Amino acid sequence: MDQGLTVLGIESSCDDTAAAVVRAGDGERQILSSVVAGQTDLHAAFGGVVPELAARAHAEKLDLCVEAALDRAGLGLDRIDAVAVTAGPGLIGGVMAGVMCAKGIAAGAGLPLVGVNHLAGHALTPRLTDGLAFPYLMLLVSGGHCQFLRVEGAETFHRLGGTIDDAPGEAFDKTAKLLGLPQPGGPAVEAEAKAGDPARFAFPRPLLDRPGCDLSFSGLKTALVRARDALVAEKGGLTRADRADLCAGFQAAVTDVLAEKSRRALRDHGAGAKAFAVAGGVAANSTIRAALEGVAQAAGLRFVAPPLSLCTDNAAMIAWAGIERLRAGHHDGLDLAARPRWPLDTARPALIGSGRKGAKA
Ligand code: KG4
Ligand code: ZN
Repeated sequence: MDQGLTVLGIESSCDDTAAAVVRAGDGERQILSSVVAGQTDLHAAFGGVVPELAARAHAEKLDLCVEAALDRAGLGLDRIDAVAVTAGPGLIGGVMAGVMCAKGIAAGAGLPLVGVNHLAGHALTPRLTDGLAFPYLMLLVSGGHCQFLRVEGAETFHRLGGTIDDAPGEAFDKTAKLLGLPQPGGPAVEAEAKAGDPARFAFPRPLLDRPGCDLSFSGLKTALVRARDALVAEKGGLTRADRADLCAGFQAAVTDVLAEKSRRALRDHGAGAKAFAVAGGVAANSTIRAALEGVAQAAGLRFVAPPLSLCTDNAAMIAWAGIERLRAGHHDGLDLAARPRWPLDTARPALIGSGRKGAKA
């Protein structure tokens, strides 16, 4: 019998305010509640997340989200064993709002406080959803993150490579903007691409000529701008078919790059791995997902993609990562610091790339 733990998780590192209650014990894992309040409308007019607005909105919504998470779980704070909170990396105002909220609850209710790395939350999610054993390989691929990890333990991560500029979701969003499609760009570009010819435009596959698992997506965006501008100069505008072909070509390039780099990650770092897991909004793309699944199958590895609500930012993953830290015998004091940067793998040099949403690691 392992000791059961019921943990309140809090997340506010980017543009989602989230709270959740997760219970774990005797090999069972249960999400008792997961509340996510997004801020898409708040930032829509600015074409990206405005850190100051995000922080204020988090400060306003955090206690309401915590209350809703406890209500939905049907539990009072007296039934909670610890408070886990994202302590970084992320937009510092939002992270501070979450950490202050968690400290207040922990101090008021006399509960242990556990600071969680947001990226560890994503990276440990396959253990919450699928009970995955260590070690496994992981691709985090969203609007703010893009990195390959070998996950050896709850606090042992090896970064195998990552983007040196934009995150893929960010590239999808910019592509949508350049072609007059709505945000978030990923689903819009994917829908357009369905009717398009992926071979019409010869978009680059950045960094495939270099060994290793680092990725780059900003050159792809520049190539797309050039192709668009050439069409506009030639014909005075884009036809629907042009737009569909541009989307299909862009998506094919991103897919090829992610698939090839995944192949290398699995080939070079997959020894003994139990699975290849993905997380992040871009993993919702069916072409990309199918390609990654194919790579896992070819390497003889199980492919794990958590449900989308747990792939994107949420607090259940933070509560779960908190449970993992508590089980390892760790927690923090009320001096827990909020960190804008917090690499998962401190042995590797920091990534240059960031991602629109500011999660830098
Ligand atoms: O994980 P997420 O919700 O938030 C963070 O970025 O942390 O990911 C959102 C990103 C956006 O950039 C969005 O355009 C992208 O994921 N995305 C997609 C798809 N659905 C969402 N990208 C490609 N294809 C999709 N179907
Ligand atoms: Zn995230």
